[in-house]
Amino acid sequence: MDVPERTRELFSEERSAEVVAASFADTPDPRLRQVLTSLVSHLHAFVKDVELTEDEWSAAVDFLTRTGQTCSDVRQEFILLSDVLGVSMLVETINHRTRGTSTESTVLGPFHLVESPPRALGDDINLDGKGTPCLVSGQVTGPDGEPLAGATIDVWQTNEDGFYDVQQPDVQPPGNLRGLFTADEHGRFRFRSVVPRYYPIPDDGPVGQLLAATNRHPNRPAHLHFIASAPGYRPVTTHVFVADSPYLDSDAVFGVKESLVRDVHVVDDPARAAEAGLANPFHALTFDLVLLRADRPPPEASR
Ligand SMILES: [Fe+2]
Repeated sequence: MDVPERTRELFSEERSAEVVAASFADTPDPRLRQVLTSLVSHLHAFVKDVELTEDEWSAAVDFLTRTGQTCSDVRQEFILLSDVLGVSMLVETINHRTRGTSTESTVLGPFHLVESPPRALGDDINLDGKGTPCLVSGQVTGPDGEPLAGATIDVWQTNEDGFYDVQQPDVQPPGNLRGLFTADEHGRFRFRSVVPRYYPIPDDGPVGQLLAATNRHPNRPAHLHFIASAPGYRPVTTHVFVADSPYLDSDAVFGVKESLVRDVHVVDDPARAAEAGLANPFHALTFDLVLLRADRPPPEASR
């Protein structure tokens, strides 16, 4: 009887990664082949490093299964898991290097689940009237200081109790504390909101159990989410953080960058208050954004 020739190496503990990686050698897409080969290499090295037990492997499968089962239209537990492991921030940072030439990015987060309602400059996005009113304003420019007329600014934040509208559909009006604004001819924008407050990420699921088991708190420092975009420029997904907020140095998702921290000022100016539609004195937060030109290559990593 003819014995078929063996062309593939059999599995062994010592060469497990190479054997499995070789099974992907015929992957037509070179990028997919590169990613899978590297993934197998690092995954096998990890399993060998900790000598993973069968019970631990089972627990990991159960954890990931429950993470998926926790996802819904208004809950993205896998993004949360990526966030608390710092992977979201790493991917974001690698893909949006600025080297100080433009506004730094940070995580999108799991709550940009609905389209922000288009609003006019000066509008109040605080639909339920809770919290401390705050005038938010700024200017969107390009890297040479050119104002970006008509830039769009998509914003969203939590309410006074630390929840996004999609987390409290029976409490908050839809679109509460969300808005899609179009900058004026000088690239300027302004709207009324409330002073952001720190809040915990959802911690009643598998990711919360991971945080509890590792003595980590679930809180994020006070922030307001932004996506700024303009034709011909690279959009930026970012936050502005409130300077006196707790947890600035221990954000559960590692999202804080020093360049994104701003003071909320108390402004005593009756004329400006009247113009903004706020009682005097009022709170104000200014956040200017600089976008990179789309036709220029992004900065390289510093090594
Ligand atoms: Fe957030």
